[in-house]
Amino acid sequence: MSGRFPEEFLFGSASAAYQVEGAYKEDGKGDSIWDNWVRMEGKTYKGTNGDVATDHYHRFREDVRLMKEMGLKAYRFSVSWTRILPEGRGRIEKKGLDFYHQLIDELLEHGIEPVLTIYHWDLPQTLQDEYGGWESRRIIDDFTEYAKVLFEAFGKKVKYWIVLNEPNIFTQLGYLLALHPPGKKDMKLYLKTYHITALAHAHVIKAYKEGGYDGLIGSSIAYTPGYAASDEEADQEARRRYYDTVCWWIMDVFYKGEYPAWGYEEFKRRGIAPEVTEEDTAILKEGAALSDFIGINYYQSAMLAHNPIDGVGLTDFNVSGEKGDFRESGVPGLYRQVFNPNVEYTDWDWSIDPDGLRVALVEISERYEKPVFISENGIGAFDELDEDKVHDDYRIEYLRGHIRACHESMKEGVDLIGYCTWSFTDLLSWLNGYQKRYGFVYIDFKDEKLPRIKKDSFSFYEEVIRTRGENC
Ligand code: BG6
Repeated sequence: MSGRFPEEFLFGSASAAYQVEGAYKEDGKGDSIWDNWVRMEGKTYKGTNGDVATDHYHRFREDVRLMKEMGLKAYRFSVSWTRILPEGRGRIEKKGLDFYHQLIDELLEHGIEPVLTIYHWDLPQTLQDEYGGWESRRIIDDFTEYAKVLFEAFGKKVKYWIVLNEPNIFTQLGYLLALHPPGKKDMKLYLKTYHITALAHAHVIKAYKEGGYDGLIGSSIAYTPGYAASDEEADQEARRRYYDTVCWWIMDVFYKGEYPAWGYEEFKRRGIAPEVTEEDTAILKEGAALSDFIGINYYQSAMLAHNPIDGVGLTDFNVSGEKGDFRESGVPGLYRQVFNPNVEYTDWDWSIDPDGLRVALVEISERYEKPVFISENGIGAFDELDEDKVHDDYRIEYLRGHIRACHESMKEGVDLIGYCTWSFTDLLSWLNGYQKRYGFVYIDFKDEKLPRIKKDSFSFYEEVIRTRGENC
């Protein structure tokens, strides 16, 4: 790579509360929908859960020491809503606040910028039971109140805030594919819940700005750019439809305050468009204008082809790690996602496409004219422990390609604030258990002491940070 990343560029790494903390019943924490979902037969890979996870709750100091050793500039983590508000609203649990104060202080003392995610999928069970969680507009007030508690507690220390993690994924998996709680399959409900997440985002952004805090705030969306499978007009049209009903659909409502016109008309024609009131549009536009950056999580790109009205519908995806299980999936009459022969795939059949990240960054930055923050990027793999070493050269290759793509995009004019890998240590994969690993630090889950072992990629990223990407 020629040239360096700017001095202030945030080279970081990320995690989420449920996937690392464990201590699921400690210090007054209330139950989240995930604490219960994992206890239902057949919902997660071999019944794995986050009861203990990596035990980060008790071992965060050791983890932060490793981050310091690596030279990490930023650490992105999420707050567990039910540690702070065990019933979802009302009574505040001081021990929950104390834990995050300690974590944030530890990071700051080691010169690591905390990047705080307010919501990474662990909704209080009480709110799901009371009004269906994200199915009801009542969640907007509860979520905004929760966010305000965090702003008040940590607003002086934390300068980077991510309101929602991948609202498109948790609503899709929860309401369209029935793979996450509450396990429903209903396209109209998916579009409705997604709309409610956008409203919640806008209200929280507004509350942050009204509070006069000195920091930057946005939400992180899982972004999968798409290519047409051929020059044929039908495939080109499929790509346009994919953008109008997926890419621009999920992004515009957060960052422009309105849906793409073609997509909205199409969903209306199908009788599934979300209700959008004038008040909605006003607050959505305000939230969009006040958002400081666009967070994206990028893992892969999509190849799109024509899908007739009686064509392929949505299918489950590979959760076994048995490569070659790629299944076409799509929305009849709109598009179909097909195998891309030009790229490699991971063991879970996710395409590996570093240039897709450059494409994504450039198109997002041109469309929304805001800074971008990559809040997740990484490769899930079966890592092998070999006499206390893990030779994860495939991860090094994956990250090298994507870091170069970031640099390329900046040369093309993208205002990129930072890049967080997923993840720092190995952690729980929601649907794939502990066998799908992403970290720089291997955790031996078979040993109850949960030892931390640095992988080869640890030294690679350490050098990237030290040299600001020069030798990457
Ligand atoms: C993102 C999530 O969707 O992808 C993470 O924000 C998640 O929480 C990551 O772990 C990787 O997904 P998976 O399914 O491979 O664990």
